[in-house]
Amino acid sequence: MKKIVILISGRGSNMQAILEARLPLTVAAVISNDPAAGGLATAQKHGIVTRIVDHRAHRDRAEFDAALGKEIDSFNPDLVVLAGFMRILTDAFVNRYRGRLVNIHPSLLPVFTGLHTHRRALEAGVKVHGCTVHFVTPELDHGPIVIQAAVPVLDGDSEDTLAARVLAEEHRIYPQALRWFCEDRLAITPQGTVTLKAARGTSGALVSPAVEP
Ligand code: GRF
Repeated sequence: MKKIVILISGRGSNMQAILEARLPLTVAAVISNDPAAGGLATAQKHGIVTRIVDHRAHRDRAEFDAALGKEIDSFNPDLVVLAGFMRILTDAFVNRYRGRLVNIHPSLLPVFTGLHTHRRALEAGVKVHGCTVHFVTPELDHGPIVIQAAVPVLDGDSEDTLAARVLAEEHRIYPQALRWFCEDRLAITPQGTVTLKAARGTSGALVSPAVEP
């Protein structure tokens, strides 16, 4: 069974969605850079080991990332899952976990990288917005895309109503991406895109009427 470590900074609702999705994986630990992260209590309620690597206790990003890497490696995970982890990681860290580090971002990448994605979507007047799970590469919010979900932007939406609509989709697509990872179905092409291998025993044929899972 594959082992993951989840990194959080705040409330941890994506982490919770992953913990409650009954995925065929072991969550070896949840690590937060902030001792006040609400998600730590949620993880503990699920019986998951928690650790804190406080970025404020380190002189610079390099030193923090080294400490974080040491903590992660002590659990020997197959995959490191960023779930609302709000620190920018050094290239050295990202390269060390290349192909083993995924993130969820609240926009349809490659648009609206960085912060305040919902506000920027409203300001831009886009009619469709969403979220993306992607492998992490050194360029912020630019790695190979695994899965995306789109939602409509409705007249009268506020940042909060739009964020809530997107978040509900985040909670759906992150567990799905991890399920595919567990099933060894994700491959990164040399061009930096992700392909999804057909499930074992399926031919890729369209079956109609659809077969229930
Ligand atoms: C999510 O919107 C995620 O996409 C972004 O930060 C937020 C974290 O929410 N990176 P939560 O901590 O998972 O509830």
